[in-house]
Amino acid sequence: MFKYKVYGGNKLYGKLEVDTAKNALLPILAGSIMCDQKVIIKKITYYEDVNKMIDILNHLGVTVKKTEYGIEIDSSSICKNEIPSMLSSTLRASIFFLGPLISKFKKATIYYPGGCNIGCRPINIHLDSLKTLGATIYDKHGYVCVDGTKMKSGFVHLPFPSVGATENVIMASLFLKGKTTISGAAKEPEIIDLCNFLNAMGAKIVGAGTDMIEIDGITNLKSVTFTPINDRIIAGTYALIPLITGGEIEIDGVNPNHILPLINIIKNSSCKIHILNDKIVVQSDKRVNGFGMVETLPYPHFPTDLQQPLCSAATTANGTTVIVENLFENRFKHVPNLVKMGANIRIKDRVCVVEGVKKLLGADLQAEDLRGGASLLLASLGAEGYSIISNADIICRGYFDLDKKLKSIGANVEIIE
Ligand code: EPZ
Repeated sequence: MFKYKVYGGNKLYGKLEVDTAKNALLPILAGSIMCDQKVIIKKITYYEDVNKMIDILNHLGVTVKKTEYGIEIDSSSICKNEIPSMLSSTLRASIFFLGPLISKFKKATIYYPGGCNIGCRPINIHLDSLKTLGATIYDKHGYVCVDGTKMKSGFVHLPFPSVGATENVIMASLFLKGKTTISGAAKEPEIIDLCNFLNAMGAKIVGAGTDMIEIDGITNLKSVTFTPINDRIIAGTYALIPLITGGEIEIDGVNPNHILPLINIIKNSSCKIHILNDKIVVQSDKRVNGFGMVETLPYPHFPTDLQQPLCSAATTANGTTVIVENLFENRFKHVPNLVKMGANIRIKDRVCVVEGVKKLLGADLQAEDLRGGASLLLASLGAEGYSIISNADIICRGYFDLDKKLKSIGANVEIIE
């Protein structure tokens, strides 16, 4: 376990390169086991959650070779279809192995997934969808046991556009003879990327990015070399820095179309933002305006994963911001830390009202979840004095070498034990 020590208060200037998308890499790594030939994933970023997925691949008997251009995954020797609690309970994305293991072995046993404690995060939509296609499922001491021997292609409606459930049903139906249709599907860019990856191996998936996805069953997949998209949540996190510290940051390797709701908020906050095809430049030399009402909703609306970083930017804005967190029932755990720094925030159920104050003061803080931890790091960059952020390891689940990157734009950040 380590901590970040941050001396805040100075304006930041420079360029930040966006890493590969964590939430594209995780389902792609799981999906790679469905191919009996070699799969190469380029430009891989070794977030902690990626490392945990690689641990699961090794447990299953898959050979993973790290090279200077990415990783080579060889699933020809895969020999297990069960994932124990010590591996599965460390992250949410372990559940992404359910569909691929069913496609591969017809049966799968996975301990209930873990992940950031931002809500109860059930998997009922995943399991109900598999049952609709003929799977039989039973729970045993925290394990989910799925028998997919009688599964057939068919029609599945998701009652909520769950990202993970959409990805699992796509992968569980890849080898089912005939056409499987998913209605009410999630539309996140990471789902499009997963389907591009699977189609590059020979799958027949159409409609990714819409709420109606069709999968025509095939018999096997062929080798592929694939480069996933970049991380829109990291891009958005970086874009919020000048709103907190002042200065000018160029963010390279971002698809502006993936973060349009945030770009809109930044534009309306009296911040300057220049948009080029794969980069954005955000510049602020005075206190930004409050953001008004911001609701988190499934893509293409404002993403829940940027709610906490945005909250930090709202704490010193000139005006009021009302944040409604519609996706997760426990995603305000960063707020008590911000209040300790002098922020004026009130919470009522899923609504968080932020009245901007002139400045925050550094304090001893505790990261409770991945994006909440990132929001505390952002807030401490703008705060007067120094902050210590404990449990900082949790931030490494979805940001890579963040301290080095922040130092490169002039931030005073160091890791302490
Ligand atoms: C993915 O989680 C992301 N994680 C999350 O990012 C992201 O916040 C979330 O999608 C929403 O965009 C990965 O891709 C690894 P959901 P996922 O299923 O798939 C409820 C981050 O910080 N639900 O779309 O778990 C659920 O409780 C992480 O990178 C059910 O009720 O999210 C939530 O309220 C955090 N039953 C809502 O749906 C289910 O079976 C959205 O969840 C599944 C979900």
